[in-house]
Amino acid sequence: LPDTELIVVSNREPYVHEHGPGGVELKVPASGLVSALEPITRTCAGTWIAHGGGSADRETADANDHVMVPPDAPAYTLRRVWLSEEEYKGYYLGFANEGLWPLCHIAFERPIFRAADWECYQAVNRKFADAVVQEAKTKRPIVLVQDYHFALLPRLVREQLPEAIIITFWHIPWPNSEVFSVCPWREQILDGMLGSSILGFHIQLHCNNFIESVDRFLESRVDREGAAISYGGRTTLVHSYPISIEWPEQTTPRRRTSAWARRRVLERFNLRPDVKLAVGVERLDYTKGILDRFHAMDEFFQQHSDWIGRLVFLQIAAPSRSSLPAYQALYQECQTLVEEINARYGSEGYQPIVLIPEHHDQHELSDLYRAADLCVVSSLHDGMNLVAKEFVAARDDEAGVLVLSAFAGASRELLEAIIVNPFDASGMGEAFYQALTMPIEEQRMRMRRLREVVRSNNVYRWAGSMLMDAARLRQREQFRE
Ligand code: G6P
Repeated sequence: LPDTELIVVSNREPYVHEHGPGGVELKVPASGLVSALEPITRTCAGTWIAHGGGSADRETADANDHVMVPPDAPAYTLRRVWLSEEEYKGYYLGFANEGLWPLCHIAFERPIFRAADWECYQAVNRKFADAVVQEAKTKRPIVLVQDYHFALLPRLVREQLPEAIIITFWHIPWPNSEVFSVCPWREQILDGMLGSSILGFHIQLHCNNFIESVDRFLESRVDREGAAISYGGRTTLVHSYPISIEWPEQTTPRRRTSAWARRRVLERFNLRPDVKLAVGVERLDYTKGILDRFHAMDEFFQQHSDWIGRLVFLQIAAPSRSSLPAYQALYQECQTLVEEINARYGSEGYQPIVLIPEHHDQHELSDLYRAADLCVVSSLHDGMNLVAKEFVAARDDEAGVLVLSAFAGASRELLEAIIVNPFDASGMGEAFYQALTMPIEEQRMRMRRLREVVRSNNVYRWAGSMLMDAARLRQREQFRE
C-alpha cells in the first residue's frame, strides 16, 4: 500500500507527559495495545489519535494538539484529544470499563450499563471520529481503530470518509451471543463495528462469537466460509490476527546476561540468593487471575512443604483504573490474601509472596523476566496476553518455564508452556511444582520452540497480515471501478 496514509485511533496514548517531582516526565503506559501498535506506527510514520490524559499533556502539545513522538527520535505525530471530567467518567470509566470490559471477559464481575455512560460513550466516539476526519489528508486513508472504547467509531468515520479502509481491532475477547445479549445497546454496537472494512480479533473463537452475535441481532447476511458479513449494502471481513510483540534483537543489540539480571533483581527486592523466583507481571485487574495464583501458591506449599522458604513469588501489579470500585476491592483482597499466606508460610527474613503495586518500565521488566525461574500468566480470560510473549522473548538463555492460562489467547500459540486452568488452584499448584523441578534440558527444548514461534509471529506479521488484507480489498475495489 505505497503512499497510503495510516491513522491509528486508540483511547490510551503511547506517550504520556506528567508533572513529577523533577519537572515534566515522560511515561509509557502499561498496555498491551500500546506496546503492539507503537513499533508499527513508528515504522509507517503515521498519525496516532488518542486521549490526552497526562497532567502535562496540554502544555507539551502544539496549537493543533500535536506532539511528535518518540520525543528522543521523532517518527510520527501523536494527536491528543481532550476529554472533560464527565466524558472521561461516562465513556472510559463507565461504559468501556464497567460495561464492555467485564461483559467481553465474562469475568464474573457483573457488567454495569448506565444510560448516562452510554450517552458519553456515543459523544466521545463522535469526538474521535471528527478528529480522524480532521487529521485525514487524503480521501482514502487506512484507519486503524483500536479496541472496545470505539465500537461506534467505524460507522461514524465511514459516513464522513466513505472510501477509507477502516480496520478495527478488538483487543479483548468477544463473548458468545447469549452473554453479549445482556448489553442494552447491542444492536448499535454491532452496527457501529460493521462500519469497518475489516474486523480483527485475536483468535477464531472470538470471530465466531462475533459473527454469531451479528447473525442473531442484525438483519444481515453471513458468509461463514468467506468470513464475511454483508450488512447495509457493505461487506465486512471478520478475521483472526494474533497480536504479538516486537522481537527484542531488532532494538536491543547487546544485553547483559541473565545471571546479571538475577543478581540485580534479588538485590533490589531484598531476596535471599538461594531462592527460586516465580514472577507475575500485570495491571492490577480482576481478569488476570492474580488472587487465583496466590491460592495456587497456598496449595503448592500444602502439598510440597519442603519448598517453604525456597520459593518467592514476585508479583508486579501496576495500578489500573483505580477509581473504580471493582479495582479498589481487588487491591484490598490481594493485600489481605498476601498477608494471610505470608503469615502462614513466612519466617524471619522470608516472605513467600512479594506484591509490588507499582508500574515498571520495559527495561526493569526485561530484567525481571530474565531473573525468573518461572513466569505465571493465569488470566481468567484474556484476548491474547503479551506478558507471556515478552517473557519468552526476554529468555535468550533459553531457560525458565512459562505457566500459562488455557483461557488466554496466547495458549493457542504457545503450546510448549505448561497450560493451566486458573480456576483449579491445586492443578495450578502442581504446575508450579512441575515447572520448578523441570530438568534444564526440557526447559531449553520448550523455550527454544516457544522462541521460534514468537520470533516469527511477531507484531510486524500481525500488522502486515491486516495490511495485506487491506491491500487485497483495495485491489478488488479498483477492479470494480
Ligand atoms: C487492555 C486493553 C487496552 C488498554 C490496556 C490498559 O490491554 O485492551 O485497550 O489500553 O488494557 O488499560 P487502560 O485502561 O489503562 O488503558
